[in-house]
Amino acid sequence: MSELVLKLKNLNKYFGDIQVIHNVNLDIEKGEFVTFLGPSGCGKTTLLRMIAGFYEADEGEILLNGKRIDKIPPYNRNTAMVFQEYALFPHMTVFENVAYGLEVRGDAKDNLNDKVKRALDLMQLRGMENRYPNQMSGGQQQRVAVARALVMNPEALLLDEPLSNLDAKLRESVRVELRQIQQRMGLTTIYVTHDQSEALSMSDKIIVMKKGFIHQIGTAHEIYFEPATTFVADFIGTTNLLEVKATADKQVTYENISIVTNNSVNVGRGYCLSIRPESLYLSKIEVQGAGITNILGTIKEKMFLGEKVRYFLSDEYGKNWIVDIFDPGRQIYNDKVYMSFMSEKAWIIDEEKIHLD
Ligand SMILES: Nc1ncnc2c1ncn2[C@@H]1O[C@H](COP(=O)(O)OP(=O)(O)O)[C@@H](O)[C@H]1O
Ligand SMILES: [Mg+2]
Repeated sequence: MSELVLKLKNLNKYFGDIQVIHNVNLDIEKGEFVTFLGPSGCGKTTLLRMIAGFYEADEGEILLNGKRIDKIPPYNRNTAMVFQEYALFPHMTVFENVAYGLEVRGDAKDNLNDKVKRALDLMQLRGMENRYPNQMSGGQQQRVAVARALVMNPEALLLDEPLSNLDAKLRESVRVELRQIQQRMGLTTIYVTHDQSEALSMSDKIIVMKKGFIHQIGTAHEIYFEPATTFVADFIGTTNLLEVKATADKQVTYENISIVTNNSVNVGRGYCLSIRPESLYLSKIEVQGAGITNILGTIKEKMFLGEKVRYFLSDEYGKNWIVDIFDPGRQIYNDKVYMSFMSEKAWIIDEEKIHLD
């Protein structure tokens, strides 16, 4: 049974005259790992700080377990936030930093020691209890900041780009650990990142944002394969976007080429069609078969990337395409080739369905 923990209702936020959060509505269930994903400046930190209580919403409501929390101070909200800049107390040891919140809350002393030790163990910080923040690397400090939030056993754990200061290898392993801890504890978590692979690999649900608007809410699979807007299609991975016109149900034309899709369309209307580079095949002759589209292209550039070759082509209408051929062996295409794809790989984007105004 799913259980609603956090509800955001019609949230709006302005800085001066500029609206940075537009009518955000969101439900988060118990134990869910939800990620706010979007480019820098899209409002991820602002939204997270509104939930934590460090910024006030200009309009709307925030409910935690059915109770309005948007007017109460951060320390009374039962949320714990890890800041992007970790904000550790420099004059306190690791142990004291992690224990601080429990002490303020008035937890019993022996209980407190156990909880701090467990949090330090989880973040692999055992043995570093007596160090000061300036005696640790950025990555270690970041883990202390996560331990300090975990130890509070909050109703909602809020993490603002908590792995941004780790190098690539460590980031990947801490990613896995963090996800395991979160699942083991059943912790409702909101995670902020601009890194799509982080979002795709960790989240139960991803909220894709641009300029303060939510473009899509969905699983990793949904936002990748069924993007709601051209922005989502382009921001998550790479894609080819075509302007098409609907000619019949599940049928559109691109220039004078007829394309079959799996999506329903309104005849006569224009749409955008998204086809991923890995959904395209190259061949010297046209590929025959029901629902297969062939488009003639000319190869302009190619990049050998080990596991794949990325081809840059243009079609006879002047449109540029990207095609990825995996496990390419020694087969390298040149000059004119057919790009082919199956109907189920051609995804219709209907931006009129969502409101971005
Ligand atoms: N305290 C502030 N005062 C004025 N503008 C701000 C403040 N904080 C953020 N902004 C602006 O609000 C927008 C969203 O910022 P932010 O939430 O930090 O984005 P993100 O975390 O997605 O990078 C940006 O345009 C940013 O410049
Ligand atoms: Mg931010």
